[in-house]
Amino acid sequence: MSSEQAGASGDAPGETAGGASNDTLNQLAALADAFAAEAAEVADRPGWESLRLAWLGKKQGKLRGLMGRMKEIPPQDRRAFGQGVNELKGRVEAGLEAIDQRLTQGERQADQDASRIDVTLPGRPPQLGSLHPVTQVIRLIEEIFAELGYSVADGPEIEDDRHNFELLNFPPEHPARDTQDTLFVDGGLLLRTHTSPMQIRTMLARQAPPIRIICHGRVYRNDNDLRHSPMFHQVECLAIDEGISLGDLKGTLEAFCQRLFSPETKVRLRPSFFPFTEPSAEVDVTCSACRGKGCATCSNTGWMEILGSGMVDPRVLRACGIDPARYSGFAFGLGLDRVAMIRYGIPNIRMLFDGDERLLRQVRS
Ligand code: PHE
Repeated sequence: MSSEQAGASGDAPGETAGGASNDTLNQLAALADAFAAEAAEVADRPGWESLRLAWLGKKQGKLRGLMGRMKEIPPQDRRAFGQGVNELKGRVEAGLEAIDQRLTQGERQADQDASRIDVTLPGRPPQLGSLHPVTQVIRLIEEIFAELGYSVADGPEIEDDRHNFELLNFPPEHPARDTQDTLFVDGGLLLRTHTSPMQIRTMLARQAPPIRIICHGRVYRNDNDLRHSPMFHQVECLAIDEGISLGDLKGTLEAFCQRLFSPETKVRLRPSFFPFTEPSAEVDVTCSACRGKGCATCSNTGWMEILGSGMVDPRVLRACGIDPARYSGFAFGLGLDRVAMIRYGIPNIRMLFDGDERLLRQVRS
């Protein structure tokens, strides 16, 4: 602000013309010039803040005391002085505002520059999800049995004693029930301990062979260690028709195991007992890790015990309305988790159910 401008802004030129006020007005003009010079130097926020404090600050601001000096001004100059002070204040405020805008603009630009996409950077590969190892195994097994002409049957996870035990030829109080470590729920119901009740339900529903089904799903037993979890997965196969023999069972087991593990896999049947099959056999396959030589996976035996099997007991067929004089059948069941553990070298069954992404990433198919 120049003194000329200050004078020109006065309403009554006569009053400002009185030479006595010139000094004071010149002081105001000098302050305005000083502010303009300081403002031009401001390059950043801290600079802006100290400029604001230096001029408008409540304690040391240069404009603060100016109005208080009114008393020292000759009465005829007071009006011009007041106007001059106000105008200077207006200029300082407008100046600070302008710098603020300039700084804000710079800051926005810097933000934008920092977040700008560098199109020359190599792309990040998308993180692909994967199927759970147990799901991968069950899909493979479904595929194998679909090729052999089987369909997939289903059934409830909460069962009654009749389907889980009685119709499978576990008489009440029979010690074989103890091997199942049953978990009971209210109302006389239980969590199915195996997939076999689904074969019972299928036979009851269809009654007319030929029947060729597999059924799979979660099963529950009160059991918990490195190899056993209270919840695990089984798959079960059931074939019923006229003239089905133990030879069919063995042939089907060989075809299945060679697809599931490898074409060289050998199958061995050992006599065993299940209430619902007669005769019954435990089935071993040559170890897929060492191909029969002996290693940690097979406890140095060369064989892995993987499933239970047998010819469906005539009592079971009869209980389900199928004539055992005309029809016979075989059934076998295995733990899917164990197959997944063997396939992917997983030492602890719990790892399958922890949901740890690092495991899932390793078994991506
Ligand atoms: N249900 C049996 C079990 O869980 C397995 C099995 C199925 C055995 C079918 C023979 C035939 O122990």
